[in-house]
Amino acid sequence: MQNKSTIFVLDDNEQAGAIIKSYTEGLEFIDEVKIYQDYQKGFADIKQCSNPIVIMDISENFSDKGEIAENLKLCTSKIIITSLDYSTNTIIQALRAGAKEFLPKPVLKDDLIRVLTMLASISPEDENSQSKIITVYSNKGGIGKTTIAINLAAELAKVTKDKVALVDLNLQLGDISTFLNLNPPFDVNYVIQRLIDKEEQIFIKGFEKYKDTSLYILSDPSYIEQSGSITAQQISALFAMLKKVFSYIIIDMSSAIDPISLKILDDSDWILFTTIVNIPAIRNAQRCLNLFRSRKYPPQKIKIIVNRYMENDEIKIEDIENTLGENVYWKIPNNYFTIMEAINKGAAIAEINPDSNICNNFREFASKVSDDIIEQAVIKYRV
Ligand SMILES: Nc1ncnc2c1ncn2[C@@H]1O[C@H](COP(=O)(O)OP(=O)(O)OP(=O)(O)O)[C@@H](O)[C@H]1O
Ligand SMILES: [Mg+2]
Repeated sequence: MQNKSTIFVLDDNEQAGAIIKSYTEGLEFIDEVKIYQDYQKGFADIKQCSNPIVIMDISENFSDKGEIAENLKLCTSKIIITSLDYSTNTIIQALRAGAKEFLPKPVLKDDLIRVLTMLASISPEDENSQSKIITVYSNKGGIGKTTIAINLAAELAKVTKDKVALVDLNLQLGDISTFLNLNPPFDVNYVIQRLIDKEEQIFIKGFEKYKDTSLYILSDPSYIEQSGSITAQQISALFAMLKKVFSYIIIDMSSAIDPISLKILDDSDWILFTTIVNIPAIRNAQRCLNLFRSRKYPPQKIKIIVNRYMENDEIKIEDIENTLGENVYWKIPNNYFTIMEAINKGAAIAEINPDSNICNNFREFASKVSDDIIEQAVIKYRV
């Protein structure tokens, strides 16, 4: 158990705050319970506290409170949201705003104690326990992995405002720094060799913060001779550290199927397995899916992405689904000129052509990814 926590109750209803306070009496891991009806004042005090747990009610005026919750999640992940309305929509809204737990009102004493005990026992290292490693992969080169990784990561940062990492694990032929015209002071090899045992603040310095966003990029080495060799153990250590710091981690990698690639794929939470609509690509995808099945990856880990999709393609999405025996998770339209313009100008598509069909597609894709991750977390409230 950590140092004692201070509980901050933000609730329009004074009595509800007092009830919560009475429920927490005698809990040895709680230092103090502070009750606020003025949410802004509560937020100002939470920022000053080293180990807060926040219980925030959103029964009324969610639009103002949602914004406070979004700022709160930059101070702590230990946020419980309560509401008189416990429809699925409200729970999703709460989790999206940053709640780690949702409790319907009136709050029951046993539920409150269970949730508080769980949150108090989370060490700062494990605060990002919902964090997901999402790897964009194809066993065929040139299929659009880097394009997808970059633009999905950029949109995820915008849509969620959470910390998102984009990591180039294509150590010898990485393209992220070129596609985004970056000249990073550190690269992934440097970080792996020197920084992963260090504390979070030092680790994060190895990343380049992308413009004014919550996207952090770890690029490939500038020279092939710097790429070094990484071990499976180093991949595990890197992933563990990434999960401590970031909510979403997007990995770009090579098409190889070698022991290190397999380690990356094994340790990913999701694989965005990408193909395009042509027979050789689909046949290759089929082989790779068999490999995934033989490695006993759970079906929900693999999400099939069809890139460069065109409505009038002779091969239809149903044909791909029938051949692969899996549903297609997302399709991305073919738009060569917009993508090439973004690459040539060294920026994400949203900076070059935010109204293009492909930019809208990436925005919706990012929303779906974050919604689906949140929905996985909501399931526990519905059983
Ligand atoms: N949706 C799309 N529409 C049109 N062109 C695309 C699309 N996605 C990717 N491309 C183009 O395909 C080419 C390859 O893309 P990208 O470099 O992202 O693929 P990759 O899978 O990362 O390749 P590699 O295996 O070399 O790492 C690029 O020229 C890119 O502009
Ligand atoms: Mg690439």
